[in-house]
Amino acid sequence: MEIVRENFSKRFCEKELFLTPRVELAKAQACSNIALVKYWGKRDLKANLPMASSLSLSLGKLGTSLTLSLCSEIQLDDEYRINQQVLSKESLSYKRLKLFLEPFRVAGMRFILDSHNSIPTAAGLASSASAFAAVSKALNTLFQWKLDDSSLSRLARLGSGSACRSMWKGFVHWSAGSREDGMDCFARPLSVDWDELRWAIIPIDFSKKEIGSTEAMELTVKSSPFISLWTKTVEEDVTNAVQAIYEKDFTKLGKISEASSMAMHALMLSARPSICYFHPSTIDVLNWIKLLRKEGLEVYASMDAGPNVKVLLRQSQESSFKEAFSKFIRPNLCPDLKIVNPFE
Ligand code: PMV
Repeated sequence: MEIVRENFSKRFCEKELFLTPRVELAKAQACSNIALVKYWGKRDLKANLPMASSLSLSLGKLGTSLTLSLCSEIQLDDEYRINQQVLSKESLSYKRLKLFLEPFRVAGMRFILDSHNSIPTAAGLASSASAFAAVSKALNTLFQWKLDDSSLSRLARLGSGSACRSMWKGFVHWSAGSREDGMDCFARPLSVDWDELRWAIIPIDFSKKEIGSTEAMELTVKSSPFISLWTKTVEEDVTNAVQAIYEKDFTKLGKISEASSMAMHALMLSARPSICYFHPSTIDVLNWIKLLRKEGLEVYASMDAGPNVKVLLRQSQESSFKEAFSKFIRPNLCPDLKIVNPFE
């Protein structure tokens, strides 16, 4: 019986995994997530081991749903479809998926993946996180490995770091760990339902970003003079944010979250050469959020590796926020505001 190649399974679980397909077609879903305390910088590039822990809140219904199957036409390559479009073999997404699936290849068979994203791909909206989390769940079903949650989270992490936080809805804590083999580096959900919270997504530009997060992180770690200070700050932020979540202290959580996002972008700006994901409208939106707070609407901004802004707010603020946004007209700013319940 074939087993997962080159002891690859040892990189995410403690048992040997067999490559005998048990079902014809595996279905899986995973939600996207936005970090409240950001992950930026790897201590191991291949295994996606982060330099510090991080903390996220899911995007509820937004994410990936997919099917994965095996087909015995080995003369052909794998086929991956995203939102009904067949990925070109030259594309980065195709190469990343293929690399991830390679250790699980069954002799004489190819993978067919059909994936649907409800969020734009590669625009700083964590589409790779939900994709790799869903592919990991699908592999587990296809081969009936019966992996536990921590092993599944470690497997997803090998595809994309933040994917290890996309296994659950709600708040998720990803421990950086310290072991070289990464066995102590996985995510866990926090058992807190804070149903009142919402994420608003302000679309600024959903086109492909100029520099991907892996390359940008590598450059930052290599060249920023502030990297060690950042790592220390992140661990403190995670501890304080977890406390704020258990206390359901919105102000404390919002402040930490916005500060973490700004510090991450400041760190990127300090790379040599500098990395900047801000568009002119991004700055406008960030200033507007500050103004809203001054006027009494307490909401907080967050950004990832892209120009779009996510806003943390409470259900009771939804209609005021929507109304304020409808009056906030800026050139090139798409008026479609999406508000999601992270726990739905
Ligand atoms: O997992 P990656 O390589 O897509 O990195 C994600 C990094 C950020 O989205 C910018 C921050 C985070 O913690 O999600």
